[in-house]
Amino acid sequence: MIFDAVDFDAHEAVHFAHDAGTGLNAIIAIHSTHLGPAAGGCRWWTYVDDAAALTDALRLSRGMSYKNAMAGLPLGGGKGIIMKSNSAPKTDALLEAFGNVIESQGGRYVTAEDVGMSDRDMTVIARRTRHVTGLPVAGGAAGGNPGPSTAEGVFLGMRAAVAHKLGRAGFSGVRVAIQGLGSVGGALAEKLAVAGAVLTIADIDEARARAFATRLDAKFLPVAEIANVSADVFSPNALGAGLNAATIAGLNVAVVAGAANNQLATPEDGARIAARGILYAPDYVINAGGIINVAAEYLGQGDAAHVTAAIAKIEGRLADIFVEADRSGRPTDAVADAMARALIGRS
Ligand code: NAI
Repeated sequence: MIFDAVDFDAHEAVHFAHDAGTGLNAIIAIHSTHLGPAAGGCRWWTYVDDAAALTDALRLSRGMSYKNAMAGLPLGGGKGIIMKSNSAPKTDALLEAFGNVIESQGGRYVTAEDVGMSDRDMTVIARRTRHVTGLPVAGGAAGGNPGPSTAEGVFLGMRAAVAHKLGRAGFSGVRVAIQGLGSVGGALAEKLAVAGAVLTIADIDEARARAFATRLDAKFLPVAEIANVSADVFSPNALGAGLNAATIAGLNVAVVAGAANNQLATPEDGARIAARGILYAPDYVINAGGIINVAAEYLGQGDAAHVTAAIAKIEGRLADIFVEADRSGRPTDAVADAMARALIGRS
């Protein structure tokens, strides 16, 4: 079942862990340790079944290999999944049990926050293992919640896309539709508003979206409409795999640039977006700000200024990908995948 799975990509290891005391059901997928320990956040989420959780773990961990390689980090790619359920609430005991599972990997997997996990959760996991990052840090130090750093990278990457596709420097008057206003999408919305973008926003947490709309003078839309709105940029910052044949056909923008992991539902969807003349910023390149920040924390490399400088490189990296896509006639995701696979020693 695993070796034949569509998303299995010669992953080095996939661990399934259960803790009877807390009901923890977790998966740790290690895609590649070619460049260093497999690093990638942990997601706490409700899955329809085990297969759906496995698919997420396989795809997300491969994405982390690509992301870490393209970000220039000495880290491989991995991902943790904790299956959310009523019978296994996210207690300290459950997080500690997950910490034990990470510790058992002996440093081959390093965790951090992803959807559903907080920096406080990381401190609980850290009671059992030191292979955890994204812990609360003192001001001025690298690390902490990766959301704001991810938002910074998405902001810069979106700026590169807007410059390339629309020939516009900066966001003044640029219309951006934001799907999801969580840790990343919320911080991104704030930055774009300050930069003069005209925002349309949506979140399944309607009260949250309305509060943002009022504060940032943005237009609020129901979630079902946000991906079809006429704008310059569509920015997916909710969950992955939102771009498929149907949603791509309904896009009404020039650029897709957002933080969500695994935005393309299938490998064909990058070509579909390109065929519509829409410029897609490959997800794992544009959303690397958070891992750059927590990697600096884990690796003991420098302060916040070092992290800011490393995140700033995302803008030029994406510009290079866009130029190469134009030159070669290949979709941007294919260009990025080829660059990333070369870096991790895979053809
Ligand atoms: P989060 O859990 O803080 O926020 C997600 C937001 O999306 C929530 O406000 C939620 O209500 C909303 N949402 C969920 N489904 C939605 C839908 N169908 N339509 C509209 N809104 C919806 O998560 P976070 O940390 O902001 O991450 C967002 C995305 O970015 C995820 O795909 C995550 O994997 C990815 N990402 C996050 C990083 C980070 O540093 N937090 C780093 C790289 C990627």
